[in-house]
Amino acid sequence: MWNRVVMVQDTLLRHVMKQSARVLLFFLVVWILLFLFIFTNFSDQTKMAISISYSDGQHVAWDSREFKNLHLSGFAERRGPFQSRRDLKLSDSRYKQLRLRNIYKMELKRRIKKNKMKTIDNTRLLMEGLWKGNVSTNMLNQRLQQVIKDYVHVNMHKVLYKGRRNASRSRQELLCQMKRQTRLKNLDSSEQPFFRLDFQRWFPSQPLQKVYKTCAVVSSAGSILNSLMGREIDSHEAVLRFNSAPSIGYERDVGNKTTIRIMNSQILANPKYKFNSSSIYRNIALLAWDPAPYDFDLEKWYKHPDHDLFKSYIAHRESFPEQPFYILHPSFIWSLWDFVQSNTVENIQPNPTSSGFIGITVMMNLCEEVDVYEYIPSVRQSSLCHYHETYEDDACTFGAYHPLFYEKMLVLRMGTASEHDLKKMGKVTLPGFSKITCPT
Ligand SMILES: *[C@@H]1O[C@H](CO)[C@@H](O)[C@H](O)[C@H]1NC(C)=O
Ligand SMILES: *[C@@H]1O[C@H](CO)[C@@H](O)[C@H](O)[C@H]1NC(C)=O
Ligand SMILES: *[C@@H]1O[C@H](CO)[C@@H](O)[C@H](O)[C@H]1NC(C)=O
Ligand SMILES: *[C@@H]1O[C@H](CO)[C@@H](O)[C@H](O)[C@H]1NC(C)=O
Repeated sequence: MWNRVVMVQDTLLRHVMKQSARVLLFFLVVWILLFLFIFTNFSDQTKMAISISYSDGQHVAWDSREFKNLHLSGFAERRGPFQSRRDLKLSDSRYKQLRLRNIYKMELKRRIKKNKMKTIDNTRLLMEGLWKGNVSTNMLNQRLQQVIKDYVHVNMHKVLYKGRRNASRSRQELLCQMKRQTRLKNLDSSEQPFFRLDFQRWFPSQPLQKVYKTCAVVSSAGSILNSLMGREIDSHEAVLRFNSAPSIGYERDVGNKTTIRIMNSQILANPKYKFNSSSIYRNIALLAWDPAPYDFDLEKWYKHPDHDLFKSYIAHRESFPEQPFYILHPSFIWSLWDFVQSNTVENIQPNPTSSGFIGITVMMNLCEEVDVYEYIPSVRQSSLCHYHETYEDDACTFGAYHPLFYEKMLVLRMGTASEHDLKKMGKVTLPGFSKITCPT
């Protein structure tokens, strides 16, 4: 009897154990399936971009699907060295990702090397063409051509251009079109959300409207080094500089006078540029800008600027209420883009024009005559992006994110320069809007 009880208990126990083992196994299988499901789904979403970030902030990624064709997927140089990186990465499975990663890396290295060698010949041709005003996009190296195509494809600012295109306007027609269409406009508190938020407290009460006789626009290009243009630059009534470009230590080539500084929003938002403490942002007029969507929906832009410039702006206005400090209106920024596209047959990069072109236009609004230094590169042209930094990339001269190449051709067509000024000094002269007479 005892034995039987033990036996029954034993069988029962085994039965129970078997049952719980089954339950356990069941849960294990469910868990594994669930895990696999989540994992595959997740991996499919796992985006991959083998990418390089260029000095000018341009961020080029190689399409993981077909590494034969280089694809820019991500982002983005924007105006000079200070870039936003907005990655628009590509999907791939985890498996492929692991398997192909090394191949991409090798391909990447090979292409960079190849491009470097090609670049030297290319650049010489391009410069000759640019000085003559006779260049086409297919003279750009493969990488830049591809980058342009990719930006057009990605269209991150949702640009929709419906205007006409005509690449054969005369110099006078170009100048008049520019005068008509690119009038300087700052943000003011007449529009929402700035009206509602009482930005009247922060925006200067007077618009920027002083008229200067002679002005210099000093590009930050590396090729301004050894130009010895400092003294000539300082002889202008007003001198415009960009972003965080210093003059201390570079006076011989870039001069020591600054009247206006144009800054992209990264200068204000990134503590690296010491916007709240550096003396280069003091005792001069300041203009800041940030890329808004093409339809310049100010409400949307205020909530999601590319880099938050509003906080620093307010802080600076509070600390230095007497200093003239404006934010350029997004409609002004995009009017420059429209101007460039309307004079170019092919699709230009649908991204704001460079700070350089913005600065030139601002000065054409404010000055009777504008001398632009080293924006059209001189014989000193090199791939050094900025005179005060050490990165090198051709894209800084010919553009990746910005439609720089097209801007420069237009400036060349609108400007005047002797061969010596253009090639040796890197100087082009443009008339201010007040000196352009147009048919009414
Ligand atoms: C422009 O350059 C092309 C070659 O790139 C040449 O065939 C053409 O004659 C040039 N046009 C002018 C007006 O110089
Ligand atoms: C382009 O502009 C030129 C110069 O003004 C003009 O002669 C020509 O008719 C224009 N072409 C088109 C298609 O509008
Ligand atoms: C700028 O340089 C000139 C000489 O080129 C000098 O006379 C002047 O004091 C300098 N100004 C400043 C603000 O450093
Ligand atoms: C400038 O801003 C940084 C934070 O961005 C802060 O740590 C620093 O104290 C500020 N400096 C001045 C002089 O206000």
